[in-house]
Amino acid sequence: MLLSPMSLLSMAENGIMGNMTSQNLATAKSVRRGEETIKTVAKSIDTQIMEKGPENRESQKINKGLLQTDELYQYILETSAYPREAEPLKEIRNATANHPKRLMATAPDAGLLISLLLKLVNAKKTIEIGVFTGYSLLLTALSITADGKIVAIDISREGYEIGLPIIQKAGVEHKIDFIEAPGLLVLDKLLEDVQSEEEDSFDFAYVDADKDNYKNYHEKLMKLVRVGGIIIYDNTLCGGTVALPESVVPENKKFIRKHIIEFNELLSKDPRIQISQIPVGDGVTICRRL
Ligand SMILES: C[S@@+](CC[C@H](N)C(=O)[O-])C[C@H]1O[C@@H](n2cnc3c(N)ncnc32)[C@H](O)[C@@H]1O
Repeated sequence: MLLSPMSLLSMAENGIMGNMTSQNLATAKSVRRGEETIKTVAKSIDTQIMEKGPENRESQKINKGLLQTDELYQYILETSAYPREAEPLKEIRNATANHPKRLMATAPDAGLLISLLLKLVNAKKTIEIGVFTGYSLLLTALSITADGKIVAIDISREGYEIGLPIIQKAGVEHKIDFIEAPGLLVLDKLLEDVQSEEEDSFDFAYVDADKDNYKNYHEKLMKLVRVGGIIIYDNTLCGGTVALPESVVPENKKFIRKHIIEFNELLSKDPRIQISQIPVGDGVTICRRL
């Protein structure tokens, strides 16, 4: 009888196979981790498929992202993220809760990290690419200085319209310059303008759209963001698929995964930045321009 790596591992862990070598045990553990990651990715994809039917109750389930368990994520939300989430942000989250694409919104725990970084660099002038209903945008508007400004870019205004009344009520709309256009075009325009007063003038950038173009955004943002400023890229762990063999990655994830893997390598070799990649949400990489 052939035993699966999972069965072998379980026998070894329970002392049934006393002579299993440590190398075999390590291999079995690694296979188990791989199988678990595949299950997690498959589950996340299933959830996203279910998201397409807003009537489906399953879609209300918590999305634990890259964490081990739903319970662990719930713990983070309940002990730190929700208690510290500003009231208008809760309102945007609730206004987005039944949106078919609600999984796109920045999660409250990632939001706290972004807000902390905005405060640490005393951000005044920022860029956001990918607004959707405005969770990260409102979070930024609430975190930057009173005279701060955000260039907020999205190819569609539809999502922004959902969050706008809440942004207005929070009294921060005047900080936002919303531009409905592709992000790369707007960054090109900013770099052209005034040849360019905009260069080196931004304290902070958050990129959460157009994943296959991250490397192009990076080059432009390295000119727009000042030395010491921060650039955050979202989704840099791509549902955990970056660490899986391509053969087990679902077809619809392969394209983005390839771009993200290349982008992660590019960032790791870029001497112009200090970086930290964090498994919050779908993985974020924080870059500080040196
Ligand atoms: C992941 S969502 C952004 C979520 C948002 N940061 C939040 O906290 O809710 C991605 C958004 O990027 C927008 N988008 C897609 N391609 C884009 C592009 N090339 N330029 C600008 N925005 C784009 C989509 O319309 C979508 O609203």
